[in-house]
Amino acid sequence: METDGSMHKVALFAHLASLVLGFGAVLSADYYGLLWATGRCALDEAVVATTRLHVPIWAGLGGLVLSGLMLHPNLDSPLTLTKLSLVAALTVNGLQAGLLARRLEAAVDPVGPKLLAWGAATALVSQACWWGAVVIGFLNTNT
Ligand code: HEM
Repeated sequence: METDGSMHKVALFAHLASLVLGFGAVLSADYYGLLWATGRCALDEAVVATTRLHVPIWAGLGGLVLSGLMLHPNLDSPLTLTKLSLVAALTVNGLQAGLLARRLEAAVDPVGPKLLAWGAATALVSQACWWGAVVIGFLNTNT
């Protein structure tokens, strides 16, 4: 139906706009983490910058879920179920990242190896899940 087609286009636009907002903010946060880990910025600068990115990250993720539902995901497709698992994993990872941020706020540089490993694992899981969801989204549209 014509209306369904236009609604789909609007939802797809909202999906991609939310992707830019959320994933863009995630990339900025992880970049600050990388700058700090390679000695290019102070810990408090990285923590403050990352904390300020929480609003666009969660707003983008919320927008992706809402617009994604409007795109009528095919829940019989293993690829779509994998994508939804990645979205669940990156959401839980984001929640535990809040805990990590609080630990880092209280820490003094140089931080211990445990906190460093926690930060690296959080960034790796985040990147893997976001890129995985992007690739599956792209594959689903093009198959
Ligand atoms: C981190 C979260 C997500 C990312 C990075 C993501 C990414 C993408 C991308 C890149 C596309 C392809 C758009 C295009 O080729 O023009 C797409 C399409 C799609 N996404 Fe997502 N998405 C996310 C979350 C969700 C969620 C939570 C749902 C469902 C509840 C969903 C449902 C869909 C559907 C159904 C399509 C296919 C659109 C079509 O039929 O053309 N997405 N997504």
